[in-house]
This record gives sequence, structure tokens and C-alpha cells, in this order.
Amino acid sequence: MSKETYSRRAFVKHSSLACVGAAVATGTTPRILARSTGRAATPAILGGTPVRKGGWSRWPIWIPESDEPQVLKAIRSGVWSRRGMVAEFEKKWAEIIGAKRCMTTVNGTNALITAIKQLDIGGRDEVIVTPYTWIATTQAILQAGAMPVFADVDPQTYQIDPDRIEEKITSRTKAILPVHILGLPADMERIMAIAKKHNLLVVEDCCQAWLAEINHQKVGTFGNAGCFSFQNSKHLAVGEGGAIVSDDEQFMDRCYSYHNMGLAYGSVVGDGGSQYAMLGSKVRWSEYQAAVGLAQLPRLEMQTTTRNENADFLRAKMSKVPGIVPHKLYDNVTRAAYHLFPFQYQKQEFKGLSRVGFIRTLRAEGVPCSEGYNSTLNSGPYLRDAFQSKNFQLMYPKEMLDFDRYVEQNQCPKYERLCQETIWLSQSLLLGNTSDMDDIVRSLERIHENAEAIKSAM
Ligand SMILES: Cc1ncc(COP(=O)(O)O)c(C=O)c1O
Repeated sequence: MSKETYSRRAFVKHSSLACVGAAVATGTTPRILARSTGRAATPAILGGTPVRKGGWSRWPIWIPESDEPQVLKAIRSGVWSRRGMVAEFEKKWAEIIGAKRCMTTVNGTNALITAIKQLDIGGRDEVIVTPYTWIATTQAILQAGAMPVFADVDPQTYQIDPDRIEEKITSRTKAILPVHILGLPADMERIMAIAKKHNLLVVEDCCQAWLAEINHQKVGTFGNAGCFSFQNSKHLAVGEGGAIVSDDEQFMDRCYSYHNMGLAYGSVVGDGGSQYAMLGSKVRWSEYQAAVGLAQLPRLEMQTTTRNENADFLRAKMSKVPGIVPHKLYDNVTRAAYHLFPFQYQKQEFKGLSRVGFIRTLRAEGVPCSEGYNSTLNSGPYLRDAFQSKNFQLMYPKEMLDFDRYVEQNQCPKYERLCQETIWLSQSLLLGNTSDMDDIVRSLERIHENAEAIKSAM
């Protein structure tokens, strides 16, 4: 059979198999072998040339000419604690999100803690939450003295499954805490309907979901409060930073007072005219943090559009590769934030190549990727630690602090499976163009075509 009549797929398969065999037999490094034979489609991990030669967009993006004057102005003013720039950022963020008010905090974790506490969610209250989230979400619930109750996920969307929420409601349930995890919106229409039916509060964790929308309404504006993070990896990267948005003026006054040592603010007035109005903490932002945020704000809209366009393109194309199952968005989602782009990896379609092996291979092609969350958020030792704390021991009946019973009651099998099969691509990959997306798809195809050889070489 001439090379011309030999199908590309068969050629790739045999050439890469031969390449591994020869490399193993002779001890020659695969890269040298691949170069000498010119086999372009040999996976990089077996010595071929990586699909991706260049890098990806760096993150965070900082443009000295336009961004630095803002920051210098803040630093040179000598006023570094919160003042005009923080207030300007809050005004702009409220406008962008479509909320009446915004208040910044030192980070997203403290945005959540502040919001939870000022909604009077605390000791002996249960808060229904997804297990597929970053630990900050559940730490915030526990820090407020409340009890996280885990409802399993919808593996297609990666979000809390509204069908699993209602069965977790008890007489102690005070709130639902949906997380728009990975920047993909949770099903807020159904969650709000459940909350209304059972008279529950809703705190949205939007710490990965800036500008994401459901029916053209921004996430963070559905529940009683929405909480954001501006940590270094986030789409508005300030280093550390967070914000709460809400339309509830009295609640926002309480949040403000809390974040400023409980000093009187707006409708929060101290008895007898005392300025020490309520129990507070100090979680205020600094002026130069606001300056860093303000400098990047004008880029967020365009970057979000780019991520969405690339994600749509990538999702459609990669779904044609057997064993690669991209995430789904709910029908009512008009925009996602795409902090991460998740897909499920079905190893049976890749000749049993393990997920670890797949990730190594994809990285070798020049496509950064990771496994995402592990499956211990609903059973990890941090929960036991909270249960054993003096406050929890005093607040909760003994049976609620029975750790083994808690773990048993909070099992989420779909979450566990999702954690075993998921692969994440980071948001910065989505800042490229369609040819960059094609590189990702070509890498996936190459791994699929050579799965047998890759597996046996590992
Ligand atoms: C889902 C989620 N919630 C909360 C947080 C906490 O935000 P921060 O790191 O700003 O405290 C994060 C941060 O990564 C997050 O991803």
C-alpha cells in the first residue's frame, strides 16, 4: 500500500506505535526519532512535535501605559485606606452587575462571610450548598456558625441540581447557597422558585462568575446577595479582593457597618447615639486595590465576549471527539463567565488511558489542563475540625455533630464521579482565537488516534 492510499488515521496509529517500539528497543529518545522520521502527527509525549508551539495568553494582563497612572495616583495620594477610589469601584461594579449597591471586601471569602452573617444565618441554621465548589464556600458557612448541607450536582452542567435541593430541606434550613461554579450559571430560576416556596434566603457565590447572565440578567442579582472574588487568578484580578452586591439597602448598610468595625452607617445607628452600633469586623479594601481593579475593568466586557465565542466554538468541535463530553449550559443562560472550561473524559473511548495519562499527554501537546476539584469537600477533615470546635459544641445538638452520620447523610455520588472524570481548561486559553481552539481540538484528536500507543508507553 502506498502512503497516498494509506489513511491518515491508520498512518498515525502505526507510525506512533512504531515510534514507541523503536524508542523502547533502542533507548533512543522519542523526540529525536520523531524528528528524523518527520511524523508530524506523533503525539509529543511519544516524541512528536507538539501541536502547540506558542504559549497562551498570560494572566493577569497588565498594560503599563494605561493601567499604571491610576495606581500611581492612588499611591502618591498618601491615602491608602478606603476613600474615593474604592467608592468609585463599588459604584461601577453595582452598575455593571445591575444591582442597587455594591460593597468591596478584602476577598471573596469575607464577602460570603459578611453576607451570610448580615442575613442572620448562623448557629443551628442549615445552608444547602453544592459539593462541587472551592472550599471557601463551605468555610464561609462554617465560619458563620451555620451547617453546610450538600445537595448533589447535575453532572452535565456541573451545578447544584435543583431536583436534589428540595429533598434536603428540613425545619432548620435557612438558606440555599448556589455557586455559579467554573463561571457557568446555576439554574437560578428554579432555585429561586424553591427558595420562595420554602421561604429561604439565597446567597449567590459568584466568585467565579463575573458578568455571567441568565435571560440577560447578571448572576448575583437573583438572590438576597451576590458575592464576588477579585483574587489573582480571577477575571478581574486585584491580588486579593471581593465584593457583595444587593438591592436591599438595609442589608447593605449592615454589611458596610460590619466591614468597618461595626461603626454606625446609614440605617445602622447605635443606641443612645453611640457610634459603636453593632458587632463588626474589619474587612475593608484599600485605595490601591481599587485602582488595580478600576484599571482592568474596561477590558472585562470584551474579554468575556471573547471567552464566550471561543467556548461555543470549542464546545461544538470537541464534542465530535469520542470520549470527550463538554459541559452543557442551561437553556436560559445568555452568557457564561468561563473561569474554567470543563469537559468529561471517558477513558473507555481512549483504550483505557487513565485521566492522569491523558492530562500528561495533553500538556505535552502544549495545552495546559488539570483535574479540577477532588471529591472530599463533603467529607474532609475541616468539617470534623469545625464540629469539634467549642462554638459548634455549644451551638449544636450532639447528633448533628456525629461526623460519620453527617458524612453518610451528605454523600453525593454524582459529584464523586464528576470529580473522577473532569478535566479543566483555564480561562486564559479562551482569550485566543479560533485557530487556538483548533489547536486544542487537534491535540484531543491526536491523543484519541494514538491512545493505544500512549497507554502502552506509560
Ligand atoms: C467558588 C469560590 N467561592 C469563593 C471563593 C473565595 O474567594 P477569595 O479567594 O477571593 O477569598 C473562591 C475563590 O477562589 C471561589 O472560587
